[in-house]
Amino acid sequence: MSNHDHDHEAPSDSPDPYSQETWDARYAESDRIWSGNPNPRLVEHVADLTPGRALDVGCGEGADVVWLARQGWHATGLDVSPVALAKTGAHAAEAGLGDDVELAQVDLIGGGSVPGDQDLVSVHFFHPTAEVFDEVYRRLAAAVAPQGHLLVVGHHPDDLATGVRRPHGPALLFTPEKVVAALDQADWEIVVVDAPTREQQFGDELVTVRDTVVLAQRR
Ligand SMILES: C[S@@+](CC[C@H](N)C(=O)[O-])C[C@H]1O[C@@H](n2cnc3c(N)ncnc32)[C@H](O)[C@@H]1O
Repeated sequence: MSNHDHDHEAPSDSPDPYSQETWDARYAESDRIWSGNPNPRLVEHVADLTPGRALDVGCGEGADVVWLARQGWHATGLDVSPVALAKTGAHAAEAGLGDDVELAQVDLIGGGSVPGDQDLVSVHFFHPTAEVFDEVYRRLAAAVAPQGHLLVVGHHPDDLATGVRRPHGPALLFTPEKVVAALDQADWEIVVVDAPTREQQFGDELVTVRDTVVLAQRR
């Protein structure tokens, strides 16, 4: 994502990379830790879908939520961090989209419940541990209504070769096939399984990174 230049690493001294405390502290560090631009895979795969109810998982400062609301979606931003959610709400209000956006503070790793009946669940760069990966992604998939879509984008294991920092270590990177394997094939039509590259700025360097991309439609 050329304009979404950041790595996705929690503070390295954090005891728990999935906790409210960790992410509240991270988001309190500065006004913006991400670019403010929507993720390009979201724009690429969702621009042509008919708007309805959307859930953006791990919404951070809300760039994807604001983009979805601009496209006509009624968008809910879900995050563990109330500090992040307050920023999402403020950015939506600044854009005049406050009425089209809802906020949900949920600890996904702690088993929090996910707002259901969504026409789109979009998850960008949320990397659960292997122990809970299938369970977390199945819970997110269960929030999609029949005929609705699930979009999962993550950092691909090939990024290990690029030398870029990636969240919490190599074990958390995942392939598109791992996402597909977590879904009940009887319930899902797999629309996209891809691992495209893009250029990402790291300091002075432009690095080619690879994304995991899965778009699935619930039958
Ligand atoms: C790497 S950031 C991605 C932010 C945004 N989706 C993007 O693409 O820029 C991961 C997000 O997941 C959230 N998160 C981390 N642990 C979580 C948990 N246990 N439950 C829900 N959200 C969590 C963080 O607060 C953070 O906003």
